[in-house]
Amino acid sequence: MEWWRTAVIYQIYPRSFADSDGDGIGDLPGITSRLPHLADLGVDALWLSPFYRSPMVDGGYDVSDYRDVDPVFGTLADFDALLAEAHRLNLRVIVDIVPNHTSSAHPWFAQGLRDRYVFAEGRGTDPPNAWQSAFGGPAWSRLPDGAWYLHSFDPGQPDLNWDNPQVRAEFADILHFWLSRGVDGFRVDVAHGLIKPDISEIPLISIFDQDRVHEIYRGWRKILDEYPGERMAVAEVFDTEPERVARYVAADELHQAFNFDFLEAPWDPAELRRIIDASLAAAAGVGAPPTWVISNHDRRRPVTRFGDGVVGLRRARAAALLMLGLPGAAYVYQGEELGLPEVLDLPDEVRTDPQWVRSGGAEPGRDGCRVPLPWEGDEPPFGFGPGERAWLPMPPDWAGRTVAAQRADPGSTLNLYRDAIRLRRPATTLTWRPAPDGVLCFETEGFLVAANLGGSAFTLPREPVLASSPVGGTLPPDTTVWMEPG
Ligand code: NOJ
Repeated sequence: MEWWRTAVIYQIYPRSFADSDGDGIGDLPGITSRLPHLADLGVDALWLSPFYRSPMVDGGYDVSDYRDVDPVFGTLADFDALLAEAHRLNLRVIVDIVPNHTSSAHPWFAQGLRDRYVFAEGRGTDPPNAWQSAFGGPAWSRLPDGAWYLHSFDPGQPDLNWDNPQVRAEFADILHFWLSRGVDGFRVDVAHGLIKPDISEIPLISIFDQDRVHEIYRGWRKILDEYPGERMAVAEVFDTEPERVARYVAADELHQAFNFDFLEAPWDPAELRRIIDASLAAAAGVGAPPTWVISNHDRRRPVTRFGDGVVGLRRARAAALLMLGLPGAAYVYQGEELGLPEVLDLPDEVRTDPQWVRSGGAEPGRDGCRVPLPWEGDEPPFGFGPGERAWLPMPPDWAGRTVAAQRADPGSTLNLYRDAIRLRRPATTLTWRPAPDGVLCFETEGFLVAANLGGSAFTLPREPVLASSPVGGTLPPDTTVWMEPG
């Protein structure tokens, strides 16, 4: 079975993982120095959010050179060193590819090569249509000469025109560039957005899952298959039905797609079961593995999403064992393994997210889940780097949440993730078992899993192998256990 079908993949947001040079911003040598943490956790692969040259209007999702490392993160030689060290530790490396848009500082846009972007006639001083940017406000902006261009995100991220063969050829070449350097795959940003609806159509957004996008991924699959070693790609596809997401992971397209329905699910047993069933059915229909995720660099951290303080952490731990007990592949976002909460009280002046900037502060934005990781020590920046501070302030009360502190505590969230990832057995099927209301109980080739999402205490049929919170003979609310199957 290919490695990615049951892998645990750890997402690194390079700006916030580890800083080697003391400028307060994470970088590639910092990541390399902390790879033993991932080897110790037992994950199969890491996915690096963008580290390419970028004006950083959107944390690097605005790329100005797809074949180079931004100086703030290091050099191509640093990337090669990271890749070599990861491979030495048996960790595969997936890099982010951002094909929907470039930065406005990309040479194509800067040099006025307008046929490679989406330009349209305005209606007088009004934009060409009513499409809204995902970050708020119109999805169209004007150049000084009055021409309107599309940006599904920030005005600094003009959308590419995928009907232009030069755009297709350029991205094929970028894929070859990184594959021949040795990367194990790609995470495809806004995979469903590349082909735009007709601009006279009414949808409110430009990111619209058009059928013609699939021919692009059939082409990319051929490129991936030219390389040995089971290279893969995972698609970011949102705002559409599981059956439509599954089309991106047909046998001749990409390998996986993120499960945003699972990520967005409330702490509700019926809803979770419905989503699990729909996800399994959609993936099975095309022979792809289902995937599971409870956090990433765009969403509020689960500890905060699922409740306040104690309850949130308890549920986040139960959600982690539920996710890691499901068949298929799972994604873990940095800091999730430490049970970090969202930082809700960042001062306005340190916030950088365009979601916050463009909404005039009405939307809190995503900085709160991007606060740098606490590694060790008693005060900020907790070993994040040799500098005095990190690019976002770290809460002083994270002293008990550092990697070092949690390593020493057998009951820590870090040790729960470590035990779960190490005990996890590859699984591809799921059978539901009878359970009282509020309890999800299923068996895979790996374990018998029971998650109590708020039902009454449930008598356990046998001793758990692993539990998200202490259990006796019964399974208390907001707790998941793994037991031997059969
Ligand atoms: C999805 C990425 O995850 C997000 O961080 C980014 O802002 C948008 N795509 C635009 O690239």
